[in-house]
Amino acid sequence: MLFSQQYQQLPTVDKQTGERDSFRKDTRKRGFCLRAIAIIAIMWASLTAARMFRSKGFWSACHGLQRNSSTLAQLPSHYTLPSGDKIPSVALGVWQASKGETALEVGYKHIDGAWIYRNEEEVGQALKESSVPREELWLTSKLWNTFHAPEDIEPALDQSLSMLGTDYLDLYLIHWPVAFKKEGSNILDENLTADPYPTWQKLEELVDKGKIRNIGISNFNIRRVQNLTANKLKYQPAVNQWSKENGLLLEAYSPLGSDKQVGQSLSVPEVKDVASKLGITPAQVLISWHVQRGTIVLPKSVTPSRILENLNVFELPQEDFEKLETAATSHPPQRVVNPSNGWKLPFDVFDGQ
Ligand SMILES: NC(=O)c1ccc[n+]([C@@H]2O[C@H](COP(=O)([O-])OP(=O)(O)OC[C@H]3O[C@@H](n4cnc5c(N)ncnc54)[C@H](OP(=O)(O)O)[C@@H]3O)[C@@H](O)[C@H]2O)c1
Ligand SMILES: *[C@@H]1O[C@H](CO)[C@@H](O)[C@H](O)[C@H]1NC(C)=O
Ligand SMILES: *[C@@H]1O[C@H](CO)[C@@H](O)[C@H](O)[C@H]1NC(C)=O
Ligand SMILES: *[C@@H]1O[C@H](CO)[C@@H](O)[C@H](O)[C@H]1NC(C)=O
Repeated sequence: MLFSQQYQQLPTVDKQTGERDSFRKDTRKRGFCLRAIAIIAIMWASLTAARMFRSKGFWSACHGLQRNSSTLAQLPSHYTLPSGDKIPSVALGVWQASKGETALEVGYKHIDGAWIYRNEEEVGQALKESSVPREELWLTSKLWNTFHAPEDIEPALDQSLSMLGTDYLDLYLIHWPVAFKKEGSNILDENLTADPYPTWQKLEELVDKGKIRNIGISNFNIRRVQNLTANKLKYQPAVNQWSKENGLLLEAYSPLGSDKQVGQSLSVPEVKDVASKLGITPAQVLISWHVQRGTIVLPKSVTPSRILENLNVFELPQEDFEKLETAATSHPPQRVVNPSNGWKLPFDVFDGQ
């Protein structure tokens, strides 16, 4: 039931963090071509989706897309990691998404999953039903906190691989810089939490074994990134979900503010203004802004019309982009995901950073 075309139809523009200007030049040169391809892609996606979901919600969401998105350039569809692999800039997040809700129909090639989301079997089923060849997909999974001990990592990975129905992951992340002992619920393994290097070494071994193509980290603050990278690593972490350091590509999770704050995020006046000016939706403004800042973005939705909507990113005019930057930095950062209290950790996992 799953198929996709859109990334195939869009040009693959490689962009490393910090190369926005050269990308822009490139974009202008290819402006006409990009626009033409974008129009075809959007029409294709709309027609396909129309066949799939004949709902009023879908059409109202699409209306915004069709109106004048053709006047906006496309943002990069991929970034290149140190391994040379190209990671699609927009993923479908599948936290709190269950069966049948991981829709590759509209062109997602990047699925951001995790062992702990407890839906890898459903994701695997959806992938199996899709006609997208494995090598065109980007599958991310995450090592859960109870499996950080070197001897537990490969069995945990194998379980994810088997549920997903694949023999390799494109990216495997240490989900949190928090190691729990396997026997108890949330009993901290202090050594592996303080120093994740043994965990990392095992992951490097699994890269060499061909079971993982790239390894990365998630929820590591700067101090923790530096602690890990102070070791002589065979493979540097390729990405960090949420915070960015030198040479690490940022993956922005909960880009809409997660369930709790999505309403608030979408009604920020600057976001609404830019959306109505450009004829796109507030969610598209936020997702585009993330990609334009040079990050991978992982919006989650279980709603077909939104799944389609969220894949369509647009290069925002500079003045609108700056308006959003100003709005975003005019208040202290608000963290929406922090399990430190829930896990009764004797420290804040982010150390307030
Ligand atoms: N590494 C980590 O520790 C970590 C932590 C958190 C998240 N993540 C990843 O990031 C992904 C996204 O984060 P998230 O799920 O917390 O939050 P999110 O993507 O910021 O927000 C999801 C919420 O926004 C709604 N939504 C989505 N698209 C919308 C649209 N176009 N218009 C209006 N509402 C829309 C969704 O509703 P519906 O689904 O009902 O449509 C859902 O309520 C996760 O699925 C996961 O893959 C990773
Ligand atoms: C943790 O590290 C300390 C100091 O290196 C060591 O004495 C202790 O046995 C370790 N604990 C575990 C559970 O491995
Ligand atoms: C990382 O931090 C731990 C705990 O403070 C320390 O034992 C370890 O030596 C550090 N690693 C490096 C490479 O500095
Ligand atoms: C997009 O459409 C809206 C509403 O139709 C219009 O006000 C706006 O000027 C258009 N924007 C662009 C960039 O064409």
